[in-house]
Amino acid sequence: MSDQPQGEAFVTIFDDTYDQPDCRAYFRMMDRLGYRNQHHAVAAFRAGLGALMAARGIARPRILDFASSYGIVTLLMRHEITLGQVFARYRDPAFDDLAPDEVIARDRAWLGALARRAPPLHVSALDIMPNAVAYGRAVGLFDEGFAEDLEAGAPSPGLAAALGQVDMIVECGSVAQLMPRALDRVLAACGPRKPWVMTSPIRGNERAAASGVLARHGLVQEVLPVAPFVHRRFEDAGEQARAIANARAAGHDPEGFETAGNFHAQVLLARPAGEGGDPRDWAQPLDIAPLP
Ligand SMILES: C[S@@+](CC[C@H](N)C(=O)[O-])C[C@H]1O[C@@H](n2cnc3c(N)ncnc32)[C@H](O)[C@@H]1O
Repeated sequence: MSDQPQGEAFVTIFDDTYDQPDCRAYFRMMDRLGYRNQHHAVAAFRAGLGALMAARGIARPRILDFASSYGIVTLLMRHEITLGQVFARYRDPAFDDLAPDEVIARDRAWLGALARRAPPLHVSALDIMPNAVAYGRAVGLFDEGFAEDLEAGAPSPGLAAALGQVDMIVECGSVAQLMPRALDRVLAACGPRKPWVMTSPIRGNERAAASGVLARHGLVQEVLPVAPFVHRRFEDAGEQARAIANARAAGHDPEGFETAGNFHAQVLLARPAGEGGDPRDWAQPLDIAPLP
């Protein structure tokens, strides 16, 4: 699996890191490639969550971490930690020779002691990779986890029950844009008052099919006023050329963004029209300073 589903792939595939028994290979791969998407996206997700809570009078929001992998989005939303600090943790050679259950025990203890941000969250995770979901459950990131493929079929009763209570869906990595059947099945299982959907697709991965699904569930999608930010570095010139062409085809000017060596992303919000007001007026900032 990749930043793209197969068939539409214009980025390199990193299958081997996506379903290991612990998070080391995945976070080290992200570090090596200079991933920054989650750093920027989560700042905007947290601002949106504040606005949603105020609009709906919610005290303990229920989140779906959609295509969660090992839970980096949940980690950054729940805890007082930066993406850079997460990468630094797993650079430590002390992690090299540990067995997966030792990594899980260490991570569980670390997360148990790591300061939590307000508000308290209830997080349900959904990904097709069983090991990644199991890791997130075992270390205490996810309150519930589901290894299911809604692109292929309906949710299990347990997942449907969890989705029925979700207030906000968050997703980094473009799956919500690129897998409209899964997005449709997620939203169909949500309650009559649909959750807000906040995502951070790579520029060029926006799809009319996804905005059509959102609209059919009563959600209007907008691009938040956040400057395009780095998703990750390109692996090679071929990947860059494809990304430039895709960004251009979607109406973006790649000059100074994709041309400078990195995939770029943006934050999309889908919500019932106007609910929560103008994002420029939200109590929390949408932007965050880039990581070095
Ligand atoms: C680029 S990764 C992003 C993971 C994570 N959100 C992050 O920010 O690191 C894409 C994820 O989508 C998952 N995925 C692929 N197809 C999926 C589907 N049909 N339903 C849920 N997750 C899926 C993959 O297993 C992978 O973990």
